[in-house]
Amino acid sequence: MSDQFKKEAAERAADDVSSGMRLGIGTGSTAEFFVHALANRVKDGLDVIGVPTSERTRELASELGIRLTTLDELPKLDLTVDGADELDPSLALIKGGGGALLREKIVACASERMIVIADGSKEVATLGRFPLPIEVNPFGLEATRLAILDLLSELSLPQKLVLRGGAEAPFVTDGGHYILDAHLEAIADVKTLGSRLVAIPGVVEHGLFIEIATKAYVAGADGVKTVLPI
Ligand code: A5P
Repeated sequence: MSDQFKKEAAERAADDVSSGMRLGIGTGSTAEFFVHALANRVKDGLDVIGVPTSERTRELASELGIRLTTLDELPKLDLTVDGADELDPSLALIKGGGGALLREKIVACASERMIVIADGSKEVATLGRFPLPIEVNPFGLEATRLAILDLLSELSLPQKLVLRGGAEAPFVTDGGHYILDAHLEAIADVKTLGSRLVAIPGVVEHGLFIEIATKAYVAGADGVKTVLPI
């Protein structure tokens, strides 16, 4: 069922795209439905150019005939459409379940608008049930891990960090970094956590997207609803 909801949200976002737009194209299973819906519109004559947020999305979009470029060629975008792991009523997000958070954030922040597409299970009152992905440089991993743990303790948050993929075969992002997933349960102050995390030298980026999304399409049994940040 959730696949059907993801598809409905993605199709609604594809309807918002018009010819001439410069698009950021997200990553993940919901974003893949968007890529398919966009490709159908391109076949019908829609003229857009896209910047993918991952190698995975690049391959799919290019196979489906969507014209692509890089953010270096096109550093200002009109709209990014992407999924999320969690969204709260202010449209703060947790992203990075698929590991593409760094490129996703760079692309979204280069866009005038960002539409989030999600099924209703992603809506939460408070972010944090989904483990927060923290992208880190492999150099000095243990020192960075300890610095993050100190910060979590200072902020009275649970100190559980899990190296994605495990020590034997860590997951490596498109940028060549590792991910530490922080199991926080509930993040009372997302802004403080976000700004303190990026101040740790080994932290490359984190999956909190704050004041970036401008609209969300959330699909459920009652159809697709539009959510604007409160
Ligand atoms: C990818 O890194 C993520 O940020 C995805 O956007 C997020 O994990 C949502 O993915 P699904 O659409 O597959 O749930």
